[in-house]
Amino acid sequence: MRVLGIDVGGSGIKGAPVDTASGKLLAERKRIKTPHPATPQAVARTVRELARHFDWEGPIGCAMPAVVKRGRLRTAANISRSWLGVNAVALLRKETGCPVSVINDADAAGYAEMHFGAGRNREGLVIMVTLGTGIGTALFINGHLVPNTELGHLTLRGRDAETWAAESVREKKDLGWKKWARRVDAYLRLLQGYFWPDAFIIGGGVSGKWRKFLPHLKLITPIVPAKLRNDAGIIGAALAYDHERRRTRQKRSLG
Ligand code: BGC
Repeated sequence: MRVLGIDVGGSGIKGAPVDTASGKLLAERKRIKTPHPATPQAVARTVRELARHFDWEGPIGCAMPAVVKRGRLRTAANISRSWLGVNAVALLRKETGCPVSVINDADAAGYAEMHFGAGRNREGLVIMVTLGTGIGTALFINGHLVPNTELGHLTLRGRDAETWAAESVREKKDLGWKKWARRVDAYLRLLQGYFWPDAFIIGGGVSGKWRKFLPHLKLITPIVPAKLRNDAGIIGAALAYDHERRRTRQKRSLG
């Protein structure tokens, strides 16, 4: 199946058509700067612009940095608060005229890695952690997603963990790799202590530079760098559309 995958981030909105059977991008991805303020209307217009760029009339899978319940955004840590309660599926469907599904961005990246990347054939409990503007998490049990875990907001050192250990904090505070790695280590230890996963997959924009920080992490739990890097959100958002469609069909056929 061909789905236009779109990943809405704090600085860019990226998209590309994806073949969901192989996870391959079918065209070079296109990035448009995230409008500011990133209100629902402004983001929807950008999504439409991306669809036009690819002359797209087929299904669209979109990843957003928020909890998504039945199409509605329920949190807004790193996007405009005007998204709270908005039915993103209905809005994007109306704006583009295409069938749409919407999923949390870390869940999307996790889907992609579990299918085509670092999580392939991994059994047990796997936690994908995306380090970017914020910290996103996706939890998989034997390949099945437990959606909308917001473990980036656990309390660490008396504050919201993502405000202390996200990649954006390293950049803003100009922290050295080793110093920042100690923060990531403390964060992963917190997760390890509560969940004892079989593996962590570390993704997000910074995962391409894993050699600079992964060697400084001292956990017992195996840690693997994400493989799909910046494309994971796009691929996973497209996959999520495919999954949702299958589930709906299955439900219908079961009556
Ligand atoms: C949001 C999550 C999102 C993560 C990564 C967090 O601030 O609460 O929903 O997955 O950032 O973008």
